[in-house]
Amino acid sequence: PATHERADDGAMRLGGIDVRDLAREHGTPLYVVDEDDMRSRARSFARHFGEAFAAHGTTCDVYYASKALLSSRISAWMHEDGVRIDVASGGELELALRGGMPAAHITLHGNNKSDAELRRALAAGVGHIVVDSLTEVEVLSALAVEAGVVAPVLVRVTTGVHAGGHEYIATSHEDQKFGLSLASGAALGALRAVHEAQGLELRGIHTHIGSQILSIDAFRESAERMLGLRAAFAAESGVEVPEVDLGGGYAIAYTPEAEALDPSVAAREIADAVAAAVATVGGSWPTFSIEPGRAIAGPAGITLYTVGVVKHVALEGGGDRQYVAVDGGMSDNPRTIMYGAEYAAELADRESEAPPVLSRVVGKHCESGDIVVRDVHLPADTARGDLLAVAATGAYGRSMASNYNAILRPAVVAVRDGSSQVLIRRDTMEDLLGWDVAPD
Ligand code: LLP
Repeated sequence: PATHERADDGAMRLGGIDVRDLAREHGTPLYVVDEDDMRSRARSFARHFGEAFAAHGTTCDVYYASKALLSSRISAWMHEDGVRIDVASGGELELALRGGMPAAHITLHGNNKSDAELRRALAAGVGHIVVDSLTEVEVLSALAVEAGVVAPVLVRVTTGVHAGGHEYIATSHEDQKFGLSLASGAALGALRAVHEAQGLELRGIHTHIGSQILSIDAFRESAERMLGLRAAFAAESGVEVPEVDLGGGYAIAYTPEAEALDPSVAAREIADAVAAAVATVGGSWPTFSIEPGRAIAGPAGITLYTVGVVKHVALEGGGDRQYVAVDGGMSDNPRTIMYGAEYAAELADRESEAPPVLSRVVGKHCESGDIVVRDVHLPADTARGDLLAVAATGAYGRSMASNYNAILRPAVVAVRDGSSQVLIRRDTMEDLLGWDVAPD
């Protein structure tokens, strides 16, 4: 998790700054990103995957899956750190470009891209467009011809590997909306279609088997199936597609007890599995890429809240539970209610000698499912005005935040060497009223 220490008086420090100063300067709720931590995770993926694949004489580029957390400055960090970017919408594309990410280092994803998004990607000259359907092959081909350009294309493949994780984030089983099925032959059909289409250059194949994956075997299996598909297409067409993208999904630890996937181990084992598969199917080596999102941004971020109301509720079996209500909730962290995600929480403005008691951190929204941390032990003297920190919220927090209950979405600040910098500013009441069209 984001590197934090405690000052002599027990207050948490992030990036060399006392959390009380962060709260005073930027307000709460506040997403705080440890810049060094996030960037070193990005560099570590680039180094480990680069080296593991270089050992077999090929390359592996790392694309940061920017849906996890994006601002133009984050795009600039990634570029400086030798990492590329994957975007899943026109908005993410604009933010990545604004940060100076070269278009050639951007991959555009999406199962239902609009004509406008495809046109913008072609005009910018993005490095890859991942096609997700035969409809899109036709549409993109026409748009590329119209623009007088050749679009570099990857075909999104559903490999059928079951990698676990919550149903809503698993992506490679058959009965879901993404990709073209390997088993049914649809993937092979799409490769043919792209290969024959005007205005498209078939660069390779892409798969993403899901998120929060702990099993290296799943990545191994999916890489083997992808190389099998590449060989099958080569056998019928004589074309060995040059690139294979294996997607993201590397698990992080949301709580101190949880396990994470170590990128250095994953890199070595996936590269070795790929080498064995290439040896089995024969032919040339492709180049590779991966797309970690959560594993780069998640552990580097913490959310700071201010405690408002503390209540004690009797439990049916006896005892009670301390409900600690904070100034945010499901609008800044919908993951608990959406996926049953688990987090840890700790008192941040001080250390307490009071006994830890069974607690639940809840938000300020008008529904009982508005839970940030379902089960956690917090000091019995947790009180109004305390600061609470929830770790590992760097990914899919701000990027999935909403304005539910006309709540103002929190700012994201980066901390480093004792100073803080706003990456995304807090919504203001003027923003909120500005989105509203008032009656005449
Ligand atoms: N590549 C593609 C094509 C993806 O669809 C995704 C995630 C990634 C890479 C990055 O996956 P990661 O390494 O971050 O697991 N909102 C959910 C996660 C949805 C992920 C969707 N696609 C959550 O909060 O867990």
